[in-house]
This record gives sequence, structure tokens and C-alpha cells, in this order.
Amino acid sequence: MAIHHHNRFPHAGFPSPWADGGGGAEEEWTEAYIKAGAFVANLTLPEKVNLTTGTGWEADRCVGMTGSVPRLGFRGFCLQDGPLGVRYTDHNSAFPAGVNVAATFSRRLMRRRGEAMGEEFHGKGIDVQLGPVAGPLGRVPQGGRNWEGFSPDPYLTGVAMAETIQGIQSRGVVACAKHYILNEQEHYRNRIDVQIDDRTMHELYLWPFADAVRAGVGSVMCSYNKIHGEYACENPWATNYLLKNELNFQGFVMSDWGAQHTTLGSALGGLDMAMPGDGGRPPYGSLWGGALTEAVLKGEVPEWRLDDMVVRIMAAYFKVRVGNYTTRPEINFSSWTKKEVGPLYSASNQTYTVVNEFVNVQGDHGELIREIGAKSIVLLKNEHGTLPLRNPSSIAVIGEDAQDTPGGPNACPERNCTKGTLAMGYGSGTADYPYLISPATALRAQASRDNTSFTTLSGNWDLDAAKKAASNASVAIVFAMAHAGENFITIDGNAGDRNNLTLWDNGDELIKAVASVNPRTVVVLHTVGPVIIDYAKKHPNITAILWAGLPGQESGNGLVDVLYGKVNPQGRSPFTWGKSVEDYGAQLLFQAPNPTAPAQTFDEGVFIDYRHFAKASIASSFPFGFGLSYTKFSYSEINVLVQPATGYKATAGSANPATTYGTVNKDPLANTMPAGFTKITPYVYPWLVNGNNLTSASPVSPAGALDGSAQPRLPAGGAPGGNPGLYDVVYTISATIQNTGKVAGTEIPQLYVQLGGQENPFGVLRGFDEVTLDPNESRTVTFNLTRRDISNWNTTTQNWEVTANEKVVFIGASAVDLRLNSSLPSAEW
Ligand code: NOJ
Repeated sequence: MAIHHHNRFPHAGFPSPWADGGGGAEEEWTEAYIKAGAFVANLTLPEKVNLTTGTGWEADRCVGMTGSVPRLGFRGFCLQDGPLGVRYTDHNSAFPAGVNVAATFSRRLMRRRGEAMGEEFHGKGIDVQLGPVAGPLGRVPQGGRNWEGFSPDPYLTGVAMAETIQGIQSRGVVACAKHYILNEQEHYRNRIDVQIDDRTMHELYLWPFADAVRAGVGSVMCSYNKIHGEYACENPWATNYLLKNELNFQGFVMSDWGAQHTTLGSALGGLDMAMPGDGGRPPYGSLWGGALTEAVLKGEVPEWRLDDMVVRIMAAYFKVRVGNYTTRPEINFSSWTKKEVGPLYSASNQTYTVVNEFVNVQGDHGELIREIGAKSIVLLKNEHGTLPLRNPSSIAVIGEDAQDTPGGPNACPERNCTKGTLAMGYGSGTADYPYLISPATALRAQASRDNTSFTTLSGNWDLDAAKKAASNASVAIVFAMAHAGENFITIDGNAGDRNNLTLWDNGDELIKAVASVNPRTVVVLHTVGPVIIDYAKKHPNITAILWAGLPGQESGNGLVDVLYGKVNPQGRSPFTWGKSVEDYGAQLLFQAPNPTAPAQTFDEGVFIDYRHFAKASIASSFPFGFGLSYTKFSYSEINVLVQPATGYKATAGSANPATTYGTVNKDPLANTMPAGFTKITPYVYPWLVNGNNLTSASPVSPAGALDGSAQPRLPAGGAPGGNPGLYDVVYTISATIQNTGKVAGTEIPQLYVQLGGQENPFGVLRGFDEVTLDPNESRTVTFNLTRRDISNWNTTTQNWEVTANEKVVFIGASAVDLRLNSSLPSAEW
């Protein structure tokens, strides 16, 4: 794919679009904007600035906290990690990771998990949950944080984003879609410069963020990397042009921690909240705070831009005050100590008080976690009726990855080591476990119920002991793992990203040793993503393989449910299992030729994961979307219904001119720290420092950045998520699925569309369903295809278009097991 570096920004991306409530059919932001506007109109300039800027790293109790408005009794915003549960606290749940939720292919479970997480964040007094994750999308399988997100398929990730966000926000908590955008690897994440073509941006990486915006997400976190030479957190193309104009995002953009690099560039480039807020030069100690107040007074940042930041933040706040969640809870925990009493302002080590109230927010979420754990297990191989197990006379459970962690499940802070069973990756995307049911514990309990004799062996290095333990068992269950995470932690030389796709801690040798002595060897994999497992697929003694991913606190229980047939597996692989890392095409940049200016071009375009495997005709070990059941399903009777054309209108016209809210006093004295104010050092404050020169030395603003006049809307824009016409249903496809086996089970029929032409993948996922059927039962499933689903991005018109290419639709059980197909009749779209 040719990348046209010169013509990438059809518009410069200035000025930064101001939000106006978004419109759209549902007008879901309208009320929030009325409330936010009234609130903001009442604020002074420093009060406005205070809500945009973090108080500093560890300054307050949350992982990120903005300043407050004491005059109105409005406390600052509490922002807390992460995507699978509340980080840095106690009495919270540890949910399955995103990659497992994707593997369920269940909209219901995606939504329920979002709701349950939202309840926990709300219960701890948190305003913003720093999740879910759609970046990394999963360009490369070794990507350290892929597991925090969902799947390298943008459609599946988009659905999971929308369901998770709506779940979280229904519980009074603002969700944060992160990391925006192209943060696809951990190596060099702070400075890697990514080059991408406009079409790939739209069809792959931006796609799930569009779903997030359409779902009403209240915040977006811009990422560490650069895009076309400019940092993501001051990138006019990514933030102003794509996110705020084309996608019509009405919420606020916060920086990843330390991803803000300049005062003006970030403000004019569309950033709305600086996190964690500290880090600038004296006298302000922040790139914003007082520095932003100064920039506004100098006219370097227009007043309407500051007002837009604040009104976006407040609108997100008001938007989630719904249902039983209309009141804002008090913060009742501290990220920085596990003790009850500690400093209220940790960085300044002062004001000791009760900072942890140990509020139990778990509810009955353990049941949901167990259900997701079980339903995310992907049964990759099952021969000779190995599974489900039925009262085996003996089982041997082998491997460190089956065991309780010595010292308790949180013995490895932020999961920074590999002791005991793996149930989440490492880094900021972790939460502490309230408890962790290990596979060995759950299997031992099941064995005792069944009078099955049970042995277990921890440690992966004594292969003779493993063989001895396995050889006489009627079933040997061997466990292995592969870990990954965020690059502030390095484990065994893996700096976030995985160095390879093999199992960790001698796992492959352990599996081979066990299989060498036991003809009924079951392999259980707790891995963050794909591993090279073709040898196990082919090994005659390995009669079953299960991927259990990162199941969270109920790991062992969910696994037993599947191994013993209480849950018929429905998990489907949310990624492709290659036979080598080269199979994947796109590669991670481990060693930049110029490490001070690492750069990378995503020249594989839209061809990642299964799209690449199909294009390069590479057979995988297990394809995307694949997973076995204890029953079988047949597919028949595909039908295509052409929906009446609604017409697609490019959005035209202009937005309103920029607005300011209220009138602020611009006298420098009114914007200076009040006399007698007692500072907490090193807290970030919004005030000018005495003696500032408020004349701008040189106008540095990019052309157009200060222009508050009415701006043209974009053809693909018009409402949150983009042009509303993109979401019109244009075809309805149906098929009949029947359970032809002997037990009840759940099939995940998948719909793939071939958009036609060399430039498009063989097929792209555009629908899936979760169909539970008794033996012999059949059901008609329907899939609604939207205009967006059958469109390509036209870089010239800057709009989506349905090309003239002939299009085919497939329904099947994986990306390569396509059972039914039909061409899509062309219609007047
Ligand atoms: C950096 C991580 O990239 C981000 O995901 C996280 O939310 C922040 N740190 C805050 O911990």
C-alpha cells in the first residue's frame, strides 16, 4: 500500500472543534450540555483551568485527579485504572481481561461485565474508569498490552467497546476509550513515530473508536506515540480532525500519563485534560495549570478553547448521572497505601487521616466472572472424547500455572512475576485479586467430589518429576502460560511486549514431557494471546487443548465448569494462531535503526491477523473465530434481504461559531493565588505567578488555530460516531443454525463480508451471534449489515463509499470455515 505522506491531512485540523451537544438522532448529549454550560458559565478563569489539569502524580488519592472548585463545593475528578477492575485498592473484583471478553463473542456478557465494573468504580467514589481499550488493537501478536483490549478485529473490538462503555456509564461512571491511537507496541512507546495511510486509519484503527463515540463514551485517552511526526496528544489530524470533527466526539480528551508535551500544542491540538498534571517547568510545575491560565490571558489559547475543554469535561460528568446513580459518591480509598490511615496528599506526605475505608464493592460479581471465565475458554482440540471428563479414576495436574501463588494471589505487585497461575497480564491494566481460585484448587475439589485420585506438581523445570506424576494418571492436565504487559515492568527480558511466541518458564518442554508418557494429555493455556502450539495440535498423545486466556479471580472454577461439561464451551478465538511469528506479516519494532527517533510505517495496511493470513495463503494452527463445542452445528438456508434505500447524504454546512461560557475577570490579580492561601507542595495550581509578563512574545499558533468562526462540517461527520447514515441497515442476512449433536450448546455463527477488489481482505467480520440450542433444535439467526459495514474509505472524498466491487457475504464458524455464501445484490445506496 502506497502511503502518501504529502496529502495526508486534507484539512489541517485547526481550529480544534468545539462541542455543541452533538445532535444525532438520540440527542443523548443534549441535556448534559445544557447542565454543563450552566455550570461552566459560573466559573472563574482559574476554576475552569483547575478542572482541566491534574494536581500531580500521587498528589491525591486516585491515579489521576484534577483540581476542584472549592467555592461551589465541587471536588476534582477522580480517574482510576483500569480496564479489568479497580486498580490499587481492595475488596474489588478482578474481572476477566478484555481478550477473554472478546472470546465469549457475547454481547450480553460484554455489557454485564461493563455494568459490574461500573458498579465497583462507582462504589469506590471514582468518576472515570480508565478503560476500555481499543488501542493497541493488536497489529502484532507480541504487543504487550493487546490483552487489555479485545481483538485485532476492529468489528469485534468495536462491539466490545460499545457494550462495555454503555455498561460502565449506566452505573454513573465515565468510561475512557484508550489509547488513542496507534499505540500498537510497548517498545519505544514514548516516542515511536507511526506513519499510516488514511484508509487503514479509518477501516482498522479508528473503527472501534467510532463505535465508542457512537456509544456515548465520555472520555478518550490520547496515547504516548507520535503519528506522522506529532505526538498523539497534540495531533491535529487524530484529535481535531478525526475524533472531534469527523466522529463528532462530545466528551473530553485526557492525556496518557506524561503524554502531554507542550502547553500550546496540546491545547490547540485538542487536548482537554492534562494527566497527571505535573511535569512542566517552573514556575508552574505543569504544562497547564497556571501555564494555561497565562496562555489564555496572553491570547495564545482562545478563551473558547478553554471553555470547550471544561464544558466537555462537565458534560461527561452530567451525562452519567443516570438511574440510581444521580449522586456523586465520596472517594473512599487511596491508591498509595493499603493502610487505613495515610496522607491525604501522598506526594506531599501530609494531612494524615483515614484514606482507606475498605468498602466492599464486589457484590455478586464473582458469579459473572466465573461465567465469563468459562464461556471465554476456547476448546482448540478434543479427540477421542477426552472432554468433558466423567469421573476419571485419577487426574494429574501439572505445572506452575495451575497453582496457587505462594504468598497469595497479589504476591507479584501488578503481576510483575510469574509465580502461580496466570489470570491477568502485567502493568497498569491490573487490579488486585480479592481471591484467586487456582485450577489446582478447583480441580482438587472436583476430584474429591468424584472420588477421583488427585496429584499435582508445581514447578516447570523438573521434567522427570512431571513425567512421573503424569504417567499413571488416567488424565494428565498440563498447564502453561505466556505473560505480557506494560513496559514499566520487564519480566525475564520481556519489556512489556513478548520477545517471542513460545510458552514461558519451560512450558513447551513441560507439555512435551507430560505428553511423552500419557496418551490422554490435556493442555490448558493461560496466555495473553497466540502462542506457537502446532506441535501440540499434531501430537497424538495430546488429545485436548484449551485456551483459557486471562480469566480473573474465578479462573479454576470456570475451567472446571468446561472440563467437566457443566458449561459447553462457546469461546471462539479472538485472534489467529500462527505457526511462527513471521506468519503474521506485520512485525514489532524491537530495535529501531535510530533509537532516538524510532519510526515505523504500518505498510501492511488493513492486512493484520486473519486478513493477512488469507491474503498470504498461510494456514494457521487455529484460525480467528475458531472454537469447538461438545456438540455440533449445521448451517443452512442463507437469505439476503435488501433493505429499502434511505439515501446517504454527505454532511455539509457549518457548525456554529465558537462560544464562551460566562464572563471571566482577566485582571492578572484576579488570576493570582489569593493572599493567605496555604499551598500544598508539590500540588499543581491554576494561578498565575506574580509578575508574569502577559504579552505573547511571538505568535506560535498554527494557522487557523485561533479562529472561532463557524467551521465546515465534514462529509463523514454530523453526529457522534460519524455520519448517521453510516449506521442505516442496508441488508439483513439470515441463516438457520441447528444443533445436530447430543447435548445442548452455544454456537457463534459469524458473518464475513468480502468487499471485493485486491485492496480488500478476503473477508472481514461484520456480524456474530450467540445461539444456544438444545439437541436437534434449530433457529434462524439474522444479521443486520449497515452502510458502514459494506463501505470503504475514500481518501479523496473523505467519506465512506460503497464501491462498485462485487460483494459476497459468508456465514460460518470461523474466518476459514465459511459454510454459506451469497453475493450481495447491488442496490442504490
Ligand atoms: C499509563 C498507561 O498507559 C495508561 O493506560 C494508564 O491509564 C495510566 N498510565 C495511568 O496509570
